[in-house]
Amino acid sequence: MTARSSLTVVLAAGEGTRMRSALPKVLHQVAGQSLLAHVLDAAPHGTGASLAVVIGPDHKAVADEVRRVRADAATFVQAERLGTAHAVLAAREAIARGADDLLVAFGDTPLISAETFARLRAPLEQRAALAVLGFRAADPTGYGRLLLDGDRLVAIREHADATAEERKVTLCNAGVMAFDGRRALEILDRIGNANSKGEYYLVDAVEIVREMGLEAVVIETSEDEVRGINNKTQLAEAEAVMQARLRQAALDAGVTLVAPETVYLAADTKFGSDVTIEPFVVIGPGVTIGDGAVIHSFSHIVLSSIGKNALVGPFARMRPGSSLGEGAKIGNFVETKAATIEAGAKINHLSYVGDAHVGAKANLGAGTITCNYDGFFKHKTTIGEGAFIGTHASLVAPVKIGNGAYIGSGSVITKDVPDDAMAVERSPQTNREGGAARYREMKLRAKAKEG
Ligand code: UD1
Ligand code: MG
Repeated sequence: MTARSSLTVVLAAGEGTRMRSALPKVLHQVAGQSLLAHVLDAAPHGTGASLAVVIGPDHKAVADEVRRVRADAATFVQAERLGTAHAVLAAREAIARGADDLLVAFGDTPLISAETFARLRAPLEQRAALAVLGFRAADPTGYGRLLLDGDRLVAIREHADATAEERKVTLCNAGVMAFDGRRALEILDRIGNANSKGEYYLVDAVEIVREMGLEAVVIETSEDEVRGINNKTQLAEAEAVMQARLRQAALDAGVTLVAPETVYLAADTKFGSDVTIEPFVVIGPGVTIGDGAVIHSFSHIVLSSIGKNALVGPFARMRPGSSLGEGAKIGNFVETKAATIEAGAKINHLSYVGDAHVGAKANLGAGTITCNYDGFFKHKTTIGEGAFIGTHASLVAPVKIGNGAYIGSGSVITKDVPDDAMAVERSPQTNREGGAARYREMKLRAKAKEG
């Protein structure tokens, strides 16, 4: 069997005002990734698969997101919002190239999977000219109803145009469709706008296909996969579904999640083997966790990599660009940002390490702070291999601490420290013999006089 070529048109031009947000709807996130990126990831990839995204006017941010996620995608602008069929035709130029299969998906339906796209395409290899993705809706209000004659799809009726009888149908249109690419333009061009909203409805393609003597079929999927997002409640529901899926996938891959329902993952989180994640951990986008690593409770990790057998937290925060080498450890109330922490290094308590390179086996004592920002610019701190930074030291960047160097507790280090040197920067200590006893007596006398 030779692979069929495909064009996927993703509609992302909707207004989404019910999100009550300045952010375009499809740029809202689920599991650390925009709704649109989820759909673009699921759409067919690789040789023979092309992609077009239809966006609204003045939606540069959406176009940027398309380019970021799929550099191979073309964008088309739908200048006026005249309906889903009208939106698809904004990509006419791409459709006219005549791929074998034309897939249409909505940018606000982020839970759709690559397998479902593949299942939808399968009937086109047989006789069907159109395959529609359907689902059984718990509450079908608002959705287009799939009207069947036996198991043949005869029409999709939008909720607003449906009769009371048709509204009882719970099999609904998910919005995702696959067309025979050679007939797609002919079908789309025949869609009119004679309905209650005066819009060009993509769903009318079904009746047109039937009139042309061709066949339309339904492929069913679960409601969870095709939840469309129009408001923040639905966004939260989609997040819950996605998190449940990601947790299950992590468990299936052998990750130990002590309390799965309390752990938040991102769609792109990568796990090695024998990773343990304790309760109440939040993992944002771009995180890789190596074999045997343990993430203790209440840690928050974004755009970072964690090496083999490394330990994180409890209460650690890894901000973008943090990397922990094999067996390295960051403990409670440690924050890292743009920091490479080499193998076996330890930062066990109460530290900020940002714009830094920490050499292998270095030990940063409690309260070590890299002072990386002067109010205008960020500067780098380099700590050598096996260096020992005493408790509560401030390392004022730019500064380099040599290999094996030793920094006395409480020092404010502003000058480079050579390899194996000891740097101590603090006032000499004075001990006054009997001073504490004399102080106490003086205060007790003063109190007795008052009383
Ligand atoms: C649509 C379907 C309905 C289906 C439901 C599933 C049509 C006519 N109706 O209804 O049968 O049950 O989805 O969620 O297709 N869009 C544009 N330009 C437009 C109009 C829409 O780009 O002019 C985009 C929107 O951004 C959105 C998608 O198309 O991503 C669907 O539009 P929406 O208004 O949400 O349609 P529904 O009323 O939900
Ligand atoms: Mg919708």
